Amino acid sequence: MNRFFGHITGAILLFALSNGCTQGTTADTAPAPLHGPEHFVQLVDYPENPYHPEKAALGQMLFFDPVLSKDSTLSCGSCHLPERAFTDGKAIAVGIENRKGTRNAPSLVNLAWVTTGLFWDGRSPTLEAQAVHPVINPNELGSDWPTVLQRLRAHPDYPRLFERAFGGPLEQEQVVNALAHFQRSLMSSESKYDSIMREEAAYTVLELRGKHIFFDSSEELPDGECGHCHTPPLFTDQTYMNNGVQEEQAPYTYTDPGRGAVTGAKYDNGRFRVPSLRNITLTAPYMHDGRFSTLQEVIEHYNSGGHPGPNVDPKIRKLHLSDEDKLALIAFLGTLTDTSFVRKLSDQKALLQ
Ligand code: HEC
Ligand code: HEC
Repeated sequence: MNRFFGHITGAILLFALSNGCTQGTTADTAPAPLHGPEHFVQLVDYPENPYHPEKAALGQMLFFDPVLSKDSTLSCGSCHLPERAFTDGKAIAVGIENRKGTRNAPSLVNLAWVTTGLFWDGRSPTLEAQAVHPVINPNELGSDWPTVLQRLRAHPDYPRLFERAFGGPLEQEQVVNALAHFQRSLMSSESKYDSIMREEAAYTVLELRGKHIFFDSSEELPDGECGHCHTPPLFTDQTYMNNGVQEEQAPYTYTDPGRGAVTGAKYDNGRFRVPSLRNITLTAPYMHDGRFSTLQEVIEHYNSGGHPGPNVDPKIRKLHLSDEDKLALIAFLGTLTDTSFVRKLSDQKALLQ
């Protein structure tokens, strides 16, 4: 059991790797604003919690540490695996003691730009507020905060690392702050699509056809309507939409009401946050309930116009795509895969274990 040793080594390596980290300087005196890629929209640092790379490195350790779960079997990283762009490959997430949740684990990239709420239904306003929940959710890490804090305070490394990053005591606020820092630093912007945007690469004929269908940019090809909701550069417009995946049980009634359960408005029933499509080839199964195992099934869904209902967006309609159009859309979606991001974060995870 050299997990503790591994932690120390990992922390030193990560601290050394993180930008702007000066040896022997505390976090409070060495802030380093978070920068987004140039072809993305301007990133505004979260003012209540200014970015610091040491806090992010500590958050990364916590993210992959099963110490946060009741029986020390699972970490955040068990359901959000870097090699799968921070998803788990399961339709519905499974927590401690094999307890099944109700929804699919979403990818965690480019969350620094998310301003309209986290979770499929947007019920959590910030990454700091969000990080409280998986720790105590009985179907996820199933622990409680007093126990988690007790364990972290008794740990051979964490008290010192918290002191160093925050210059203060180890409290719940600092734990969620560090986790939020790490997740805010997860930026995926090195896909083929990004290279094309920077004029460093070009689409294949099939990808270009898919791009035209996605964005409705050619009169000769059908309009897939995708780009209205999955808008670049994040490939989400951050709104809540009903894309017709769920069949209505009765008027305005769905198995999972999604956004409606948060706002109480029946008009919002069956709406979910439009997910980003970045790294979509790595994040199957798809949708809030993981109902589709492949992108082919997703495209068939949109092509068919989905299940009807008053809350379904009018852009969800029969698309009349040919077999080649469908292949082209999937080829275009493939240009959103960022292998360098996935490799970098998987390598860093390996250093922590
Ligand atoms: C058992 C699997 C599981 C574990 C463990 C887990 N998550 Fe999640 N995570 C999920 C699921 C499922 C959702 C979606 C839930 C929903 O929308 O209601 C989610 C959603 C999220 C979101 C919202 C992302 C978005 O785009 O809206 C964030 C952020 C997140 N998790 C971070 C964490 C952190 C941090 C931890 C550890 C403290 C963690 N998760 C542990 C399964 C898990
Ligand atoms: C009206 C807005 C809207 C349009 C148009 C739209 N989508 Fe979506 N898309 C959504 C919403 C909302 C979800 C999540 C729904 C859910 O989980 O229940 C989603 C989910 C997806 C997912 C699954 C993502 C994941 O992480 O599970 C894929 C893939 C996808 N859309 C691709 C497309 C493609 C391709 C098109 C065009 C053919 C398209 N979408 C058109 C709103 C839209």
